[in-house]
Amino acid sequence: MASPDIRAASRRRFLQYLAASPLYAATPALAAETPSKWPDPMIWTAPPAEPIKSPKDAINVFDFEPVAYRNVPPAHFGYMASGLDDEVTLRANREGFLKFQLMPHRLNDVSKVDAGIEIFGGRYDSPIFICPTGGNQFFHPDGEVAVAKAARSGNHLQILSTSSNFSVDDVTKARGAPIWFQLYASPKWEVAQALIKRAENAGCPVVMVTVDRLAGRNQETLFRLMRADSRDCSACHDRSSFAARAARRHNYDGIDLSSITGGGESSNLSWDTIKRMRDVTRMKVMLKGIITADDADRAAQNGLDGILVSNHGGRGEDNGRSTIDALPEIVAAVNGRIPVLVDSGFRRGTDVVKALAMGAQAVGVGRPYLWGLGAFGQEGVERVLELMRTETRAAMQQCGARSVKELNASFVRRVT
Ligand code: GLV
Repeated sequence: MASPDIRAASRRRFLQYLAASPLYAATPALAAETPSKWPDPMIWTAPPAEPIKSPKDAINVFDFEPVAYRNVPPAHFGYMASGLDDEVTLRANREGFLKFQLMPHRLNDVSKVDAGIEIFGGRYDSPIFICPTGGNQFFHPDGEVAVAKAARSGNHLQILSTSSNFSVDDVTKARGAPIWFQLYASPKWEVAQALIKRAENAGCPVVMVTVDRLAGRNQETLFRLMRADSRDCSACHDRSSFAARAARRHNYDGIDLSSITGGGESSNLSWDTIKRMRDVTRMKVMLKGIITADDADRAAQNGLDGILVSNHGGRGEDNGRSTIDALPEIVAAVNGRIPVLVDSGFRRGTDVVKALAMGAQAVGVGRPYLWGLGAFGQEGVERVLELMRTETRAAMQQCGARSVKELNASFVRRVT
C-alpha cells in the first residue's frame, strides 16, 4: 500500500496534468476536486509529465492531446476543444458511459473476431468512422488529406465536412474509395444544391445533412484561447463576410456565396427542405444531429436513409443530453427501419462496444483524430485509429462477441 505522501503527490501530479488542459481550466465544475474515500488507482502511473515524443509511445488516445496542445496555435486548439456555454453536454458525453455496464458472455470462443461492418454496400474493417470536422489545416498542413490516408490504412469510413479545407474530390482521391459528405446546407437552397451536386459528382454514396447548427453559439473555450493567441490571424482569416470566411474551404469553390450573411447557419432548415434534397439527388440522405426518439421516428417515416445520433460533440446547443443516454430510446423508436449511427464523446473501445450493443451500426470519432493530426500528422491519426481498433477488438473478445452483428442489448445494461 502506498504511503499517504506518495498518494498525495501522485494525486497532485494527476490534477496538475488535468489542470494543464484548457478544457479543464474552462470548466469550473471539473476543476473542483471531488474528494473520494477510495485510494487513487493511478498512484503508480500518473499520466506522463512530458508529452509523448512519437505516435508509438501513445498508450491511449488521450496521450495525443497534450502534444496537439503544444503544437497547435491556441485559437485553433480552442476551436477544436470548445463546447458551448458551461460545457455541460461536453462533460455529459463522457460521463454518460459510466451509466452503462458491459455484460460479458463467457466461453464463446473468440479466437477469431471480425470487427468489420457493411453499410450501404460499403465494407469497412472497423465500426469506427471518421466524423466530419471542419478546417483540418488548423491542426496540420496536410489536413483532411492526411486524415483520409490514415482512414485508408485502417479501412475506416470517412465523412467529410462541408467546411473541409480540401475539396471532396481531393479527399476522395486520398482515401482511394468513396467517402460520405456532410452538408451544411446554409440558408440558401442554391448553395445547398450546388454542394449536393459536388458531392454526388465526386462519387459520394451518402450525404449527411447537419440539422443541429441553426444559431450562433457561445464557444467560451475558443473565445478565451483566441485572446491568448498573439499571432496576426488576418492573413488566413478574413471575417468580413461569409464568402471571405469560406475562401479556404474548397468545397465552396465556384459557388456564389454573396447573398449569405452572418455565420451562414442553416436556421431555415425544415422537413420540407430535406424532402427537396431527397428529390434532387440519387445519394442516400441521412440526418446528423438527431437526439430524440420523436425526431428519429419522423426521420424514418419521412423516408430518410439513416440518422446519426449526435450532439455535435457538445457544440450544437448545451442541452446536457449525452448521445449514449439518447441512443437506446432512439434505437427503439427506429425499430430497425433505418441505420442508426452515433458519435460524440467516444474515446475507448468499451465506449464503442456499449453503443454497438445498444444497436448503433457504427460509431464516430472526432476530437481524438484531431489530437493525433495536430500532434503528428497522418501518423498520429493512424495511431489514434489503431489504438481505438485494438481496444474495440479486445472489448469485443472480452465480452464474447465475434462480430459486430453478435452484439445486442444483452451485452449492456443501464445501472443509474
Ligand atoms: C463544425 O462542425 C463546428 O462545430 O465547428
